[in-house]
Amino acid sequence: MLAIIGGSGLSKLGNMQVTGRKVARTPYGEPSGALTLGRIGACDVIFLARHGHGHTIAPHEVNYRANLWALKDAGALEVLSVASVGAIRAALAPGSLVLPHQIVDYTWGRPATYFEGEGVPVNHIDFTEPYSRSLRAKIREAAGACGERLVDGAVYATTQGPRLETAAEIDRLERDGADLVGMTGMPEAALAREISLEYAAIAVVANYAAGRADSKQAIALESIAAVLEAAMDRVRRIIEELCK
Ligand code: HPA
Repeated sequence: MLAIIGGSGLSKLGNMQVTGRKVARTPYGEPSGALTLGRIGACDVIFLARHGHGHTIAPHEVNYRANLWALKDAGALEVLSVASVGAIRAALAPGSLVLPHQIVDYTWGRPATYFEGEGVPVNHIDFTEPYSRSLRAKIREAAGACGERLVDGAVYATTQGPRLETAAEIDRLERDGADLVGMTGMPEAALAREISLEYAAIAVVANYAAGRADSKQAIALESIAAVLEAAMDRVRRIIEELCK
């Protein structure tokens, strides 16, 4: 079964036929909200809003462990994350949809593994390719089939937030090889790997990163909502195609 984690700009899936809700409890506490169960086309799907129903949970406060555990427990095998990002690479204009292939983690202090605590054996997952090759291929094919442009391959830098970055921080991320910057990619991707979920992300470019292009002086926060709204319609179309 496919689970979709919706980020900023995607708090529900209008094209989902809802059949139920599940309040999940996990050994790691409560997920961001009740899981929405339903169907899109021919697929059973589960939806979870990462930042909670009223968008009240900041990126560093999201209980990533509970979210992924709850999705797995409800029967998910694959997880598609939808996440808004800032663009460092100039060609990724606001509104672009991107399928990242690599991550760099700059977050700190977030519970980031299931393999800790008393009596839990240490386990080092392979994370050379942080995103699922098979799910990335399905998403790429779905986007192609419905004619939505999806940029294939990008390095996603995960910052701590909730504040946006300084221009110098973005310069540093670029020197590190990052194309995109967001606040939720980690530890989500690593936790998914730890519990053997096939995980991939569609990154939705909301703005140019700090100090770049029209964000040279400041990021125009007031224009982000409209950019995301238009882009999320295209994400929904890709998801519909994925579920055919
Ligand atoms: N930086 C970090 N996260 C983001 C941004 C950004 O510029 N835009 C949307 N999410």
